[in-house]
Amino acid sequence: MPRFLFILITGVLFMGVFSTSGESVSANELKNKDRQQTLTIAHRGASGYAPENTMAAFEKSVDMKAEMFELDVQMSKDGELVVIHDTTVDRTTNGSGQVKDFTYEELRQLDAGSWFSEEFAGEKIPTLGEVLDAYKGRSGILIELKSPSLYPGIEQKVAAALVARNMHKPENDKIIVQSFDHESMKTFHSILPSMPVGVLLGYSEEGVSNEQLANFSSYAEYFNPNKAMITGDLVNRIHEFGMKTHPYTVRDQESANFLLSVGVDGIITDFPDYVDPHKG
Ligand code: G3P
Ligand code: CA
Repeated sequence: MPRFLFILITGVLFMGVFSTSGESVSANELKNKDRQQTLTIAHRGASGYAPENTMAAFEKSVDMKAEMFELDVQMSKDGELVVIHDTTVDRTTNGSGQVKDFTYEELRQLDAGSWFSEEFAGEKIPTLGEVLDAYKGRSGILIELKSPSLYPGIEQKVAAALVARNMHKPENDKIIVQSFDHESMKTFHSILPSMPVGVLLGYSEEGVSNEQLANFSSYAEYFNPNKAMITGDLVNRIHEFGMKTHPYTVRDQESANFLLSVGVDGIITDFPDYVDPHKG
């Protein structure tokens, strides 16, 4: 066999068996039991298949039998809770400008589907209330407060939206509120201690210390880091501190296999079928 071909084939085989974190895993090693114990959380809805943070993406998540979907909440100029990821409307709509500078009626005029595919032309930016009403009892919802420091009082408004629908009792629905803004999560926990709260963390080479985990566990039930930080040891430490973990964001099969093999509690993914091929 030519030398370059041998190197190529062994390289591909090596990548298929080992994750980026260096811990061995292969798809064949994953048992159905492992998959069943890990929640599938469709990121911004099933955003690999439909435009993120739209009703079409949330419906696709339910169709694909994901146990939960994730969404991002911000606030319009006139105080409506709206579901959109970026702090501007530019990338995911036909408009331009900061979310906070639009009234809800103005945001509602925008097309939030065509950028993804003409098939979704006319999708709207939903309100949080609209999503909660449509999916109460049908799906778990992981609610991310996106850039909450731009929206003073957003924690109180989200808490009120959940209480108004009796969705603030963990036994009723699988609803979790999370943010990269940890002060915001402390505030949310103090407003509505009955709601499970999650702490998001961006990738950091230093990892996360036991002191940080102890601090998070004083108000949060979930520690949800970038998936590149996850190791079997970190999962064990998170569990030892009494928290669960839903790392983000899986967009390839190898990452899903690795996270399943180390026993994470949920996987946030654009493609629910990567976590469980029976979903889809
Ligand atoms: O749920 C976690 C994940 O959504 C965080 O990243 O940028 O997609 O909001 P981002
Ligand atoms: Ca998010």
